[in-house]
Amino acid sequence: MKTLGDPTYKSIANLMHATIGLSFTDSKKALVASRLSTRMQQLGLKSFDDYYALIYGGPDDEEFQVAVDLLTTNETYFFRERRHFNLLEEELRHSRPQRLKVWSAASSYGDEAYSTAMLLSDLQRQGCIGQDWSILGTDISDRVLQGAVEAIYPETRLREVSDEHLKRYCLRGEGEAQGLVQINDSIKSHVRFGQLNLCQDIEPLGPFDVIFLRNVLIYFDNQTKRQVIDRVLSQLRVGGLFFIGMAEGRIQCDTPMQSLEPGAFRKLAAKSGQA
Ligand SMILES: C[S@@+](CC[C@H](N)C(=O)[O-])C[C@H]1O[C@@H](n2cnc3c(N)ncnc32)[C@H](O)[C@@H]1O
Repeated sequence: MKTLGDPTYKSIANLMHATIGLSFTDSKKALVASRLSTRMQQLGLKSFDDYYALIYGGPDDEEFQVAVDLLTTNETYFFRERRHFNLLEEELRHSRPQRLKVWSAASSYGDEAYSTAMLLSDLQRQGCIGQDWSILGTDISDRVLQGAVEAIYPETRLREVSDEHLKRYCLRGEGEAQGLVQINDSIKSHVRFGQLNLCQDIEPLGPFDVIFLRNVLIYFDNQTKRQVIDRVLSQLRVGGLFFIGMAEGRIQCDTPMQSLEPGAFRKLAAKSGQA
C-alpha cells in the first residue's frame, strides 16, 4: 500500500471537513489510507497527492463523489429502528392530518423513505390521514440517489418488512431478478429524491411535519453537528417530529426540543425573544 504522509492526510481531511462536514481525526489516518488506496490502484495513481489533485475541486469533481462513498457508510435497511415508525404511527392515528410532508434528510438508498411510504399508505387506506402526503429523500451521494430512484433492493434489506407489506407494496423478482424486490409505483409516486449537502445553507424546502436525520451525525464534529441540526430543524414546523439514530445520544442545538424517546423529539415553539 502507498504511504499517506501527514500533510496530504491533513489536506484530504480538511477538504472533506470544509465541503461536506466529515470529521477525520489523526486516529483515522490508517482507515482513510486503506479505503482510498484500492481506488488509487484502480486508477493507476502513484501517490495520495495525485489522488488529492483529483478530488480537490470538492463536490463538483466527479471523483470526489467516489471518495465520499468510500469514506462514509451508506448502510441502511427498511424499518431500521422500528420504534421510530411505531411512534410516528401512534402520533398520526391520534392527529389524523389531512396533509403531511416528510423529509428523509440523509436517505442513502431510500429504504427509510419507502418504509415511511408503506406506513403512510396504510394509514391513508384506513382513513387516518388524507391522501395528500409526500416524502422527500436527500443525500450527498449521487450513486445512492440513483439507487433510491430505481427502488430495486436485495431481499435482505427488506428483512424487517412484513409479508403483508411485501405483498401490497413490492414486486418480487423472478428468474434473473430472483432475490431482488421492486417497490410499487403506488408508493413510489409519493416519494422523490434530490441531492443536498447538509453542511451548506438549505433553500426553503419545508415546513415539514416529520424529519428523519438518522445515522449521519456520527460523521460530524460537535460544532458541525449543532449547525446541521439547527439548519435541518429550521425546516420543521413547530410540533413536528424529529428523529436521529437511536444510538446518537442527546441533541445539542439552539432550537427548543422536547425529548420523547431515544432518538425521537418534538419541536417546541421558541420562547418570545428567541429566534
Ligand atoms: C448510514 S447512512 C443513513 C441512512 C438512513 N438515514 C438510515 O438511518 O438508515 C448515512 C448517509 O449520510 C450521507 N451523508 C454523509 N454526509 C452528508 C452530508 N454532508 N450531506 C448529506 N448527506 C450526507 C451518506 O452519503 C449516507 O448515505
